Amino acid sequence: MSCFGLILTPIYFMRKIFLFASLFFLGSLSVIAQYNTMAIPDTLNGSNFNLTIKDTFSQLVSTGNQTITGGINGKIWGPTLFFNKGDVVHMNVKNSLNDSTTLHWHGMHLPAVMDGGPHQIIPPGTTWQPYWKVENNAATYWYHPHLHEMTMEQITKGIGGLIIVRDSIESSLALPRTYGVDDIPVILTDRDFTTSNQFSVVAYGDSMLTNFTLRAQYSVPAQVVRFRVLNGAIERSFNLGFSDNRNFYIITSDGGLLSAPVAVNRYVLHAGERIEILVDCSADLGKSVDLKAYNSTLAQNVAGGDVFPNGPFVNYLARKDFNILHLNIGAQTIKPITQIPTTLTTLTPISAASANITRYLTINDTNIVGVAGAAFVINHKLFDINYNNYTVPLNNTEIWEIKSTSNFGHPFHIHDVEFNILSSGGNAPVAAQAGWKDVVFIPAQTIVRFIAKFDDYADALHPFMFHCHISLHEDEGMMGQFVVTDPASGLAKIPMNQGSFSLYPNPSTNKVFINFADPSTKVYYISILNSLGKAVVMLPQPEWQEGIDVSHLSDGIYFMQLTDEKTKTVITKKFIKE
Ligand code: C2O
Ligand code: CU
Ligand code: CU
Repeated sequence: MSCFGLILTPIYFMRKIFLFASLFFLGSLSVIAQYNTMAIPDTLNGSNFNLTIKDTFSQLVSTGNQTITGGINGKIWGPTLFFNKGDVVHMNVKNSLNDSTTLHWHGMHLPAVMDGGPHQIIPPGTTWQPYWKVENNAATYWYHPHLHEMTMEQITKGIGGLIIVRDSIESSLALPRTYGVDDIPVILTDRDFTTSNQFSVVAYGDSMLTNFTLRAQYSVPAQVVRFRVLNGAIERSFNLGFSDNRNFYIITSDGGLLSAPVAVNRYVLHAGERIEILVDCSADLGKSVDLKAYNSTLAQNVAGGDVFPNGPFVNYLARKDFNILHLNIGAQTIKPITQIPTTLTTLTPISAASANITRYLTINDTNIVGVAGAAFVINHKLFDINYNNYTVPLNNTEIWEIKSTSNFGHPFHIHDVEFNILSSGGNAPVAAQAGWKDVVFIPAQTIVRFIAKFDDYADALHPFMFHCHISLHEDEGMMGQFVVTDPASGLAKIPMNQGSFSLYPNPSTNKVFINFADPSTKVYYISILNSLGKAVVMLPQPEWQEGIDVSHLSDGIYFMQLTDEKTKTVITKKFIKE
């Protein structure tokens, strides 16, 4: 079930042979690989976030060519965004790529039209301005492109970033939270480099990259250190552990704190998942320890445990143990955290009895008639952007029961909500997964059940997605979508018409205001088009009462295209920017 139409070339094999040969050669000379200091993404705070997605390049391999990459504001990956629960955040996402893209806020609870899924396409040169009230719990989330059939390629380039949400509960705990010092982002991924140091777009790479650093090392203080670990890989799972087998303490699942730290010495993190862990380095001054992937113990049906004799899935890291991060333990900081807390938060999982519907989903390895090659499918169907799988009435509490007959494990992700796992293979979730989750691993041939509430953000037009978070599978169609609808809305309303509003001042310099004949008018969407008809700014559910900021537009003629909330009628009016 693996060859998904990728074409093998002799050059591919030659390069692999070259790579293996040079690794053995280095090994036999016992040349010790030099570590590189792990990069720490920049940070952005506040309520306005400017993100420019662009094609760029980065010196990832120490010798030879730079790698062509995708970056957000910088040379690869993007800044870590700090949000406070309760704040309204405004994003200015400028697409400076030569291709369309989207930017999805993975794990955030927000309106579907702000979600950045495959429907919220940002054309090249356009700025997309979603905003929302942060309602998520303190935890680590992330953002990444989600353009259908382009997700793998655009994530491979390195486009993405972390989101750190803070709230009053997390802030009241004695936890490490000095970013880059005792609170350290760790983004796990792997890439395949061509001989000219360029990324190949493949499911598995030969090289581990930690925060996009090869052979990463980092200095941490001799105290309790927090790592925020994201599996940002295209496909691979990581069986995390430390080289001295020490325990580490998981304090969050994807969407919030656990009730208490969970001590483990191994933990498998699948694509899309995050955990925050505490590691006690108090007694380790002057020592080194490695965070490793103990992937030699992964089963064949778990991504990263599958060994292929040949073909496009061959990779050097398959079912091997390898280093993720070499840690050097240095002096304590001034106010070190030296204790692992005993409790974290009060978790109130949604009770199974409160569900008003169970939806039954399937995952299969199948050959679909008329589709070339094998694929993994949800509900016996490849993704169709024009097909809505489910209509979820607002305020539903739903159990999703996913029955996999696949011979491979898939990390299943749903947008809009954080859920509670009810069972996996008939068993209650392990302690580290007994909190809020937005990705759940569906082992091969297993039934997994989770429960979620859909109590907000009804929108019959823009769906939310659910999919396998292995980007290759997602791009190949292992995805579906649902809309949340409000049965109470949808009452007939008089559509907007040309006479129902005016723009002022016109010409305008800073802000264009809208004067509605009916002041209760709700605007679903505004696009500002230039004189060539190209969208330059896209404003989902704009706060039009504040005026529409046009100060950043160059002088000229523009068209404001308004979409009415109730009837979705579109009206266009001209204005001049000067
Ligand atoms: Cu992280 Cu729909 O994705
Ligand atoms: Cu998501
Ligand atoms: Cu999958």
